[in-house]
Amino acid sequence: MATRILIFDTTLRDGEQSPGYSMNTREKLELARQLARLRVDVIEAGFPIASPDDFEAVKVVSQNIREGITVAGLCRTRDQDIDRAWEALQHAERPRIHTFIATSDIHMQYKLKMSREEVMEAAVRAVRRARGYTDDVEFSCEDACRTDPDFLCQMVDAAIKAGATTINIPDTVGYAMPWEYGERICTLMKRVPNIDTVIVSAHCHNDLGLAVSNSLEGIRQGVRQVECTINGIGERAGNASLEEIVMTIRTRRDLLNVETGVNTEEIYKTSKLLTTITGVPVQPNKAIVGANAFAHEAGIHQHGMLSHALTYEIMTPQSVGVPQSRLVLGKHSGRHALKKRLQDLGVDLNEEDLNRAFVRFKELCDKKKEVFDDDLLAIVEEQVLATPETYVLEHLQFASGTNMIPTATIRLKKQDEIFQESGWGDGPVDATFKAIDQITGIHPRLKDYSIRAVTSGKDALGEVMVSIEVDGQTVIGRGTSTDVIEASAKAYLNAINRVVGRQAPPAKEVRQGV
Ligand code: KIV
Ligand code: ZN
Repeated sequence: MATRILIFDTTLRDGEQSPGYSMNTREKLELARQLARLRVDVIEAGFPIASPDDFEAVKVVSQNIREGITVAGLCRTRDQDIDRAWEALQHAERPRIHTFIATSDIHMQYKLKMSREEVMEAAVRAVRRARGYTDDVEFSCEDACRTDPDFLCQMVDAAIKAGATTINIPDTVGYAMPWEYGERICTLMKRVPNIDTVIVSAHCHNDLGLAVSNSLEGIRQGVRQVECTINGIGERAGNASLEEIVMTIRTRRDLLNVETGVNTEEIYKTSKLLTTITGVPVQPNKAIVGANAFAHEAGIHQHGMLSHALTYEIMTPQSVGVPQSRLVLGKHSGRHALKKRLQDLGVDLNEEDLNRAFVRFKELCDKKKEVFDDDLLAIVEEQVLATPETYVLEHLQFASGTNMIPTATIRLKKQDEIFQESGWGDGPVDATFKAIDQITGIHPRLKDYSIRAVTSGKDALGEVMVSIEVDGQTVIGRGTSTDVIEASAKAYLNAINRVVGRQAPPAKEVRQGV
């Protein structure tokens, strides 16, 4: 019989902490609900002591996610971290405290400035304190792959004795080769007494593009939990991608003889929802969820596919929930059809949100003949999941052309006040952004600007994505419209509203080294 591998999703924690992927509490809950439909085993919802927003997100996810799914919160080994994590997790059906400390000499000497003895003592105390709150305690040796193997065995042994129930072995900097990672797990399995009483977990980063391979090698050596993220997002080059791990396990069960509890047909929706929320697109050739993952372009491939799908297809698009038809609704479609289609796309709206989305949907139907899935997701992002709108676009007027100075006049509403300014610039977009800066008093650095047609056709909805930097923090904004200058203004305002809406900046010092 195949051995069950637990899928620990850390999209909301390790994924969210990378630049451009920040989500507010509402967005995190929306994604957590989809992760529950995907049937992951553990959702790591955040790092409660890192910021009030992180705390709130872990609390809200804990209060709302049931169905036997474990909700984890990350904390360092300090008492106040553990207490704060528990405060956020206490309402979860299955709460897990996940505590960690770095164990490599390089981290202990330069970052923690602690000796091996002090690190071990801190870990033991933390695990015991966490066990005082819950029976489910995970302990991670940060930078385990650059840790002296003897010391790693001692640390793991001490954490098990102190009551840890899951031991996580992170390749924090994505340095290990697959066979090295496997050997590390093998050494622990052989040398640590009672290792068979706990779940050993893999947590691999992708700096050398080896995160998935390393996790799989870990599984071959006895790992029973894999930590991963949707679309492989995460610090620097990201974490091991959930969809790649799960589909490899499913497709190569003949070799691995393991299985997961994931409902693979929800994979595509989950990936789409993450893209919708964060505005960061997936590269087209990304395995499993990229736009080209199941596209067969070359004639010889198409011929093979038509003769028999198995010639070039090792798994079906249906198995990961890629929709067969992308054309969905039109102006005769009703509220019920919209609700059903959104559910198929992984978005379950309450009545109030559905009404707002429906109004926008009807407006769009007046402008476009065909409304595609991506149009619907754009509506959800804009109307429902949207960041609280401190500044609302009331009016935009611009003029540009050959031999004239591009100018824009913009009117924004902030609560009951109306502000109006004009600006000029290198083009109408630049002029619009300058007028917005004058009103908000925020002068961000524009790091990136991109524009694409969300769907096909001359009447396609244009989507603009901007990346701005304010006080060293990168924020992404998205806006859609059939008019690209208006889409640009909306995207820029969306990013500004995210900046303004941040209640408190994340405690940088806490996030370092994770
Ligand atoms: O990469 C890492 O070491 C981590 C730990 C905190 C688990 O994210
Ligand atoms: Zn990590």
